[in-house]
Amino acid sequence: MVHAMDDSKEDGPVFLRTVAWEDGSLVLIDQTKLPNMLTYVRLDDYKQVASAIKNLVVRGAPAIGVTAAFGLALAAIHSNSRILEELISELNTAQAILRSTRPTAVNLFWALERVMKKAMEQKNVADVKNATLEEALKMSEEDIQVNKQMGINGADLIEDGDIILTHCNAGSLATVGYGTALGVIRAADEAGKHISVVATETRPVMQGSRLTAFELQHDGIDISLIPDTAVGHVMSRQMIKRVIVGADRVLRTGHVFNKIGTYQVALIANQHKIPFYVAAPISTFDFESNPADIVIEERPIEEVTEIAGTRIVPLGVRVFNPAFDLTPPELISGIITEKGVLKPPFEKNLKILLG
Ligand code: MRU
Repeated sequence: MVHAMDDSKEDGPVFLRTVAWEDGSLVLIDQTKLPNMLTYVRLDDYKQVASAIKNLVVRGAPAIGVTAAFGLALAAIHSNSRILEELISELNTAQAILRSTRPTAVNLFWALERVMKKAMEQKNVADVKNATLEEALKMSEEDIQVNKQMGINGADLIEDGDIILTHCNAGSLATVGYGTALGVIRAADEAGKHISVVATETRPVMQGSRLTAFELQHDGIDISLIPDTAVGHVMSRQMIKRVIVGADRVLRTGHVFNKIGTYQVALIANQHKIPFYVAAPISTFDFESNPADIVIEERPIEEVTEIAGTRIVPLGVRVFNPAFDLTPPELISGIITEKGVLKPPFEKNLKILLG
């Protein structure tokens, strides 16, 4: 079992381990404390897990999914119920609470449904407890393997000497470990290519400056930070070779929901003919929905009106704080998955990719 306080060194260079199971508890890096403190929280109750997801102690689509899976396992393990039907009903309640935390990243729903399905297949209470935990553990290890495979698939798109812009944090801190967009960069770096990363700050929660800058500096990958407002300037000066971002939900049509600001990065990249790639595991794909079906989370206005607890906006000003936006397929050069790189037309090629 990986000790949460250790960086993961499994087979390759060090990367942060964001989600771990340790001595019967879920252990998470507390991302609200980064970059000033690398601390961990230990959770034993699914309601604590739901709060940790809602309050961004853990964030990033794949990390949210695996965390929620452990939340459901904790609900099973700590249940006093001796009757199978009663336990399943408790798990349905826990699932509803975990589902209500964040609406946009599809991995949350994917993970909860996967663990719930396992629970429903069991014949007695003890088996439900074992099977839910086993499934969550399996998903956490799969997450790292899938990210590494995505890294291998995507690294071919990157050339030695590239300067790559990324938005938000789609790294180890957004997954169990290794990362999606940053996993591709990590794999190119491991293959001996010299890569420089430009991270946007990613207002208002600052995942770029607080998390991506922290993670890449921690891992020894060259990183510079720009304000979100400098994207047009650096792209117009040919300072960026390509863009790689993560995703919270990818539709079968290639519509990508990701951190607010991704759409404007994609528009500017398109204007300057800079390739724009998305890295996302198949667990981030939503094969059923259409763009208008997706709920874009709106977060507390204090994320915009305050910086580190200090008010920066006059009292009484109306604020709109959407957490995600939609990038249409025509702005996307390719979607890097663990099954291969999907090129446009996405809907047709997705069918071929998945067989
Ligand atoms: O609000 P957050 O920090 O959970 O948003 C995260 C993102 O938008 C990431 O880019 C996305 O989840 C991909 S993570 C591999």
